[in-house]
Amino acid sequence: MPLINLKEALKCSIDQRYAVGAFNIANHVLAEGVIQAAEIKGLPVILNIAEAHFKILDMNHFMHYLLDRVNCSSAPIVVHLDHGYTYENIIKAIHYGFSSVMFDGSNLSYQENIDKTREIVKIAHAAGISVEAELGYVAGFGEGGSEKDENIFTKPEQAEEFVQKTGIDALAVSIGTVHGIYKGKPHLNFKLLKDIRNRVSIPLVLHGGSGLRDEDFKKLILCGINKINFFTGNSAAAVNAIKKEIEKEKKFGGFPELIHIAQMKIKEVTEEKIQIFGTKPLGLKGD
Ligand code: 13P
Repeated sequence: MPLINLKEALKCSIDQRYAVGAFNIANHVLAEGVIQAAEIKGLPVILNIAEAHFKILDMNHFMHYLLDRVNCSSAPIVVHLDHGYTYENIIKAIHYGFSSVMFDGSNLSYQENIDKTREIVKIAHAAGISVEAELGYVAGFGEGGSEKDENIFTKPEQAEEFVQKTGIDALAVSIGTVHGIYKGKPHLNFKLLKDIRNRVSIPLVLHGGSGLRDEDFKKLILCGINKINFFTGNSAAAVNAIKKEIEKEKKFGGFPELIHIAQMKIKEVTEEKIQIFGTKPLGLKGD
């Protein structure tokens, strides 16, 4: 299956009420774990590479491997820039061969977010690349804000206008999730999500998927979410699997075996999430 863009991956997700998982990869092990999960399921998946991770990857070489791997894959795959903050890195991502980019202007004023996002949409669409943008602000990673802080939530009227003025393909919303670990029980505003869904006809994106329960995911999807970002859960599961193996009888095979154990764990967790998200094959009618 070839590389696909985000718009293609999410084409039927609103009508058929399902989500496609967007799993962050910051190395070959994460990439292989996620791609293999998609191949086993025979379902689409989104590979997120965050701008913040450009610095720990040799992007030219990594993208060479990744695009080759994706184009040989039996599953349809999106290669998506997660949280791109600068024009420079968005353009770089387009050059690297990403099929989709996120411009994160959530820390800008509303008008600036519209203006910059609209410019990026013009450039990306000319190259056949999809664009996700964020309105409101999803807290986390020690950046301040909290899931209870309603000032940072997405406003439904603004969401409608933002989508119409920018021409984006998917909208990331702030409805009570945070990136990384939740300090307590998550406070998800399902009513707000439904209000946004009623006003916006493009796919909605949930950031901060780790730490939510299966029933939360199901309800979020029913209320309108179509793309779910998930990272910390895979990362923590891989680390714990390695720790467990090292502690086991204090003897382990060595570095390649540990990496393999981590990769298998990432594959297992990703498969579970794909199942919970109810992802369907591209272009097929739902149940
Ligand atoms: P988590 O690490 O909380 O799953 O969030 C991932 C994310 O939203 C990446 O953009």
